[in-house]
Amino acid sequence: MDKPFSQACINNRAPIADVLERVFADKRDILEIGSGTGQHAVWFASKMPHLCWQTSDQVQNHSGICQWLDECSLPNLLAPIPLNVLKDAWPNRYYDGIYSANTAHIMPWEAVVAMFSGVGERLLSNGVFCLYGPMKYMGELSAQSNVQFDRMLKQQSPHQGIREFHDINRLALKAGLVLLEDLAMPANNRFLVWQKA
Ligand SMILES: C[S@@+](CC[C@H](N)C(=O)[O-])C[C@H]1O[C@@H](n2cnc3c(N)ncnc32)[C@H](O)[C@@H]1O
Repeated sequence: MDKPFSQACINNRAPIADVLERVFADKRDILEIGSGTGQHAVWFASKMPHLCWQTSDQVQNHSGICQWLDECSLPNLLAPIPLNVLKDAWPNRYYDGIYSANTAHIMPWEAVVAMFSGVGERLLSNGVFCLYGPMKYMGELSAQSNVQFDRMLKQQSPHQGIREFHDINRLALKAGLVLLEDLAMPANNRFLVWQKA
């Protein structure tokens, strides 16, 4: 299998790292949900050596992630654990940071619900959850590119689609998370940061 590659990861990794370097400055153990190709994990673990970065995803993505990890062999970057948030048991441990990018609009809504519930259970108090991706506000998508993206997602699969911020934040509140930041990012994405109360 060829090593998977995402151009989007190359484009967004620097602005995402700028935020993570600040919000994870005093954190140590990070769980990434939906590591995808593994490119984000490699970049962030190399830029933030104080973090121990645990990758995870559905098992079908593990061989691709491992190819990226094997190539860089960073001591603070851990091989993926199987984590389909709907089906798999979560790791039996706690994290002071959890990160997930471009997952909420891909997984079905019940998986988004399960993701927030698991995050609430696995975050230490004062730990932070960072969620990156496009977001809808009061039912509106402000950018035409996101309107088209949302349409394409729904054509691909009816369970997909850009989520409503208030629905997402309701899940966060239920999981004991308090919104700290909602940042505008390049290419009409958002960066949401919650803290476990
Ligand atoms: C568009 S990719 C994003 C990958 C990477 N985070 C990035 O930003 O490039 C969506 C990711 O969500 C993951 N995903 C979808 N459903 C999931 C579920 N139920 N549990 C965990 N991960 C899931 C996919 O396996 C995939 O890695």
